[in-house]
Amino acid sequence: EKHLLTTNELKVEDIHQILSDAQKFADGMVWKPERQMFAANLFFEASTRTKSSFEVAERRLGLEVIPFEVSTSSVQKGETLYDTVRTLESIGVNLIVIRHQQDRYFDELIGSVNTPIINGGDGCGHHPTQSLLDLMTIYQEFGRFQGLKIAIIGDICHSRVARSNADALTRLGAEVIFSGPEEWFESNSLDASKFMPVDYAIQQADVVMLLRVQHERHEQKGSFTANEYHSQFGLTVEREKMMKAGSIIMHPAPVNRDVEIADSLVECNRSRIFKQMENGVFVRMAVLKRSIEILQGGNRNENTYTE
Ligand code: CP
Repeated sequence: EKHLLTTNELKVEDIHQILSDAQKFADGMVWKPERQMFAANLFFEASTRTKSSFEVAERRLGLEVIPFEVSTSSVQKGETLYDTVRTLESIGVNLIVIRHQQDRYFDELIGSVNTPIINGGDGCGHHPTQSLLDLMTIYQEFGRFQGLKIAIIGDICHSRVARSNADALTRLGAEVIFSGPEEWFESNSLDASKFMPVDYAIQQADVVMLLRVQHERHEQKGSFTANEYHSQFGLTVEREKMMKAGSIIMHPAPVNRDVEIADSLVECNRSRIFKQMENGVFVRMAVLKRSIEILQGGNRNENTYTE
């Protein structure tokens, strides 16, 4: 499959292959496409990490990155997503990364466009490259997924990261538990029997994965004050002391300091928050390589050498 839209579509062996390539890139592997290729990053929603790390990944693979900003494009004249993608495809862009506020925006594109589409996040739906970089970070730490307990804590109903990770981690053999405000849990698509009080979840977990409170997606803004959220559901300095030996803290970022996590814990010994961002570049290189290899006709690992 040349596209990457959700983690659900990736088989366990595909996930392992991407993580293996990502680790090789982290260890210095150099891989380039056989011919000149152009990439465009279409971000209809704000981003720092995903957009910048895709751009670094593309440049490290030797791709030409087409400057594209929604705010100065013909999207402002009413051009649709479909016409924007078809236009870039006609001009000769070979790979398109898209972040869009609409859940499953890609459904209208797949089958109608030839260019590989890589999902950089759709509404409250999926964020597959975030999930893959989270998996890479966990695997680097523990060397396995089987038997690990991962606590996903916070704004679960608005989190594309929660759904992507719960699906992938469960299939890889980890146990995923949830915590946070009960009214922000979505029992429709997630296992309600795995919802636990926050202190219990933090004590049990090998990985405490905190989610950002997505103020922009809450209709009734501020149902908790920052202090209320932090003391009831956040990783406070006191709760960190209850964590298991060897357990780690993750957060997809951006972080609301002193809301989901105490300011002093963001860069503590247990925290892998900046490691996750570092791994994001390598995972995105691996995902781009996978799509390019399909465009080139399946020459896996050709053009590979180590610096
Ligand atoms: N984690 C993440 O997706 O961050 P950005 O919104 O900054 O891309």
